[in-house]
Amino acid sequence: MAHTITLIPGDGIGPEVADATRRVLDASGVKIEWDVQNAGAAVAEKRGTTLPDEVLASIRRNKVALKGPIGTPIGKGFRSVNVTLRQALDLYANVRPVRSLPGIEPRFEGTDIVIVRENTEDLYAGLELMIMPGVAQSIKLITERACLRICEYAFDYAERMNRKRVSVVHKANIMKLSDGLLLECFRKVALNHPRIEPNEVIVDACAMQMVKNANKLDVIVTENLYGDILSDLGAGLVGGLGIVPGANIGLDAAVFEAVHGTAPDIAGKGIANPTALIQSAVMMLHHLGEHAAAQKIENGLLATFERGTRTADLGGTATTDELTRAVCEAVGRA
Ligand code: NAI
Repeated sequence: MAHTITLIPGDGIGPEVADATRRVLDASGVKIEWDVQNAGAAVAEKRGTTLPDEVLASIRRNKVALKGPIGTPIGKGFRSVNVTLRQALDLYANVRPVRSLPGIEPRFEGTDIVIVRENTEDLYAGLELMIMPGVAQSIKLITERACLRICEYAFDYAERMNRKRVSVVHKANIMKLSDGLLLECFRKVALNHPRIEPNEVIVDACAMQMVKNANKLDVIVTENLYGDILSDLGAGLVGGLGIVPGANIGLDAAVFEAVHGTAPDIAGKGIANPTALIQSAVMMLHHLGEHAAAQKIENGLLATFERGTRTADLGGTATTDELTRAVCEAVGRA
């Protein structure tokens, strides 16, 4: 039976990496009917909104979406479509596995960290105002409900994936109430998961630890902003943004997307690395229960990297199309 999945190609390199990912999914033999929806700056010009109602309706209907990156203007302009989508669909858990790939020199051999980022509140709640000229205020919103469910998700994930340790990353020494609430919830949830070792790390020390010895970290659970920053740091440890995938998981829907953005500096040049979105699609296939197809793609990707085929961001010369063709062939053989 074919799965019907919403596809949002997105802006910048989005359509290029989305097309590559579709080709790789086709090569795996998995049956997917794509419900293509557009969101972002290009739609805003025609429709007066960056997120037309039918995009949300499509994801609600299909329950699963694969999404390319969508740009957000800096300092002014429309609100982030990504943040709006996550909040509107209550996609509360953002899961970002940071793993090295064969043939790419990571900073630490065998880096394998999973960042579980709370996706709906914190400084991303959109509560910002100018109190008076020259004084801006951003409200950091942290609720017990969101802290409990993200910690539950992280411990459940650790149990399901046979991980050993969950580290909560916080700044409760300074933000005693908001980050203190996360810490309190983490300790409460940890009691229900005796097989998993709980660990507490202050965010600045975590950044240092990731750069000095990332292998000490296993699963990380943290707030929205810290998770955003640490996942880009993690990407830097394993070769860059071109390879790190992500999943936004809620109770009623899930949206799979790479950690990277629209990469305006290389958009339209045919050199973007589609690996991060392909790996996001692998996460999507596991979510759909299509484990055999997911494994096939993962094996094909690993074989391609072992053979040294790489795009420019990883020091190679392959174009998006050449890498995609190599992965499709390897998937066909897997
Ligand atoms: P970016 O991730 O788009 O680019 C940072 C650097 O990494 C650039 O040099 C880019 O060329 C490179 N890069 C990123 N992905 C790559 C890939 N697949 N292959 C090869 N090189 C790659 O971050 P930036 O420039 O800060 O953001 C650009 C736009 O993307 C902004 O409007 C931002 O809001 C948006 N964005 C959207 C996200 C989403 O839709 N989930 C996530 C992050 C940023």
